[in-house]
Amino acid sequence: MRTGPVRLSRRARAGRRPPDDGRRPLDDGRRLAGTLRRLAWRACYEALGARVREPAWAFMNYGYADVGPGADGSAPGTVAAASDPLVLDPADEPDRSCIRLYAATVAGVDLRGADVLEVGSGRGGGASWLSRYAGPRSTTGLDFSAAAVALATRHRRGPGLRFVRGDALALPFPDASFDAVVSVESSHCYPSVPRFLAEVRRVLRPGGHLLLADLRNHDDVVVLRDQLAGSGLELVELEDVTVHVVAALRQDNARKLALIEAWIPRPVHGAFRVFAGIEGTRNHVGLERGDLRYLRVRLTKPQVSAG
Ligand SMILES: C[S@@+](CC[C@H](N)C(=O)[O-])C[C@H]1O[C@@H](n2cnc3c(N)ncnc32)[C@H](O)[C@@H]1O
Repeated sequence: MRTGPVRLSRRARAGRRPPDDGRRPLDDGRRLAGTLRRLAWRACYEALGARVREPAWAFMNYGYADVGPGADGSAPGTVAAASDPLVLDPADEPDRSCIRLYAATVAGVDLRGADVLEVGSGRGGGASWLSRYAGPRSTTGLDFSAAAVALATRHRRGPGLRFVRGDALALPFPDASFDAVVSVESSHCYPSVPRFLAEVRRVLRPGGHLLLADLRNHDDVVVLRDQLAGSGLELVELEDVTVHVVAALRQDNARKLALIEAWIPRPVHGAFRVFAGIEGTRNHVGLERGDLRYLRVRLTKPQVSAG
């Protein structure tokens, strides 16, 4: 599910088209492909929010687990769990692995007193955790699914927390209104990552951070690197955390299967196992083999912007 309902051909990815710098008007073909891609993802996430209203389901990411020294994650059983230092309220414990992905994404950045925007906040668990644990002044979760925004507004709580509906490619906020933009496992849905990055640069204050975690096809990692390099933001860190994500998927496999059984309508169990990264399904296998990579990225908006 995470690799996108509309796939670009290898030739298209290889650059037989002008690069999307986020500013150039799109030609008709690319605009149509982008619109279809966006509509498909929106329909998928609207259906999830509307059909599965279970409030306890707060996260939709693959998770992150610490791994022991020397673990390479190449085969089941080779990843030894290390002690996880994250201290959580008992009520948050069931979501530890998904929360760990957020903690890894924002690691090294002090969010105390900051105005934080999460793009692609889904069912709101991540924005709620940030607002309660990271000490920001405000946390805004944005998602293009009306059902997800309604669900998050109803069920998630935290100081200075709010949820709004909006598109990652046209953020409904004034220039320079946030100190940090967080985005977890959402950017693979965006029809134009350069446009998203241009919007992030616009809404960030000078010195502000983009903290992003997401997966890409192996061949698309270089595309993402180019997009980040052309964003006008300074790349501070890019880490491949695939081994941690695979470890989390393995650790959480039985629990997720039980939740699918309990919460998800039976006719869509098969599709949902793929979505959840259950062992043996496409994305799980892709991450194990290295065909898919999971990345954690930190960029900073220069104090004096290049324009
Ligand atoms: C896999 S979910 C991850 C949700 C959340 N970050 C988490 O970790 O639980 C991806 C989310 O991105 C949202 N999304 C996808 N494309 C978007 C766009 N163009 N603008 C805003 N949100 C988008 C989807 O609606 C969905 O809620």
